[in-house]
Amino acid sequence: MIRIAPSLLAADFWNLNQQVSSAIEGGAEVLHVDIMDGNFVPNLSMGPGVLRSLKSRVNVTFDVHLMVDDPDFFVDPFADAGADWISFHIEATAHAHRVCHKIRDRGCKAGIAINPGTALTSLNGILDEVDFVLLMSVNPGFGGQSFISSTLSRLEVLHDMCQKADRKPFIEVDGGIGAQNIRELRVRGVQVAVAGSSVFSQPDPAAAVQSLIRAAEG
Ligand code: DX5
Ligand code: ZN
Repeated sequence: MIRIAPSLLAADFWNLNQQVSSAIEGGAEVLHVDIMDGNFVPNLSMGPGVLRSLKSRVNVTFDVHLMVDDPDFFVDPFADAGADWISFHIEATAHAHRVCHKIRDRGCKAGIAINPGTALTSLNGILDEVDFVLLMSVNPGFGGQSFISSTLSRLEVLHDMCQKADRKPFIEVDGGIGAQNIRELRVRGVQVAVAGSSVFSQPDPAAAVQSLIRAAEG
């Protein structure tokens, strides 16, 4: 079973309530919240206030993806705002171990995110400390990009690495995911699939989530 995590980045913020409610009605149990600082990635997105507003109204798992330099600084504001999972990039800090512990001390699941161009071996020192790995299947910064196909062979290697790690971290994949490729992810052991444009750029987010779930199982 794969869980769909719609990414708020692709939502129409004028209709945020409607869009989020529809995605949940379609079966989404996780909402992916992309945080960008204009430094680690060349884009800006949203702050903890958006998460805080949603947290008090909808009962889902909030999955905060920090695409920021200095992730250490961002853990407390997003934990305070209601994050359940927080991931940060291995490329963004020399202190991944410390950041992981900070996230877990705040009662959140800790995830390590990794870019398409970064060797999986760079996760060796941190894999025993994390609850999940966020494998990027596009270069972070923007929604609506194409899935990078080498992600599939990386997934197979990563899956073996995770099985051997202390907490057996689950794998989440992020970027360019739709009905055309989600099954390839499920059969390779992915447990959470982030979907931005394939949910929120569709006329009916509920139907879009349902069709992703069907395609994954199909
Ligand atoms: C990319 C973000 C993704 C993005 C996914 O920087 O981390 O979560 O919103 O969007 P789609 O599904 O449109 O590729
Ligand atoms: Zn993301």
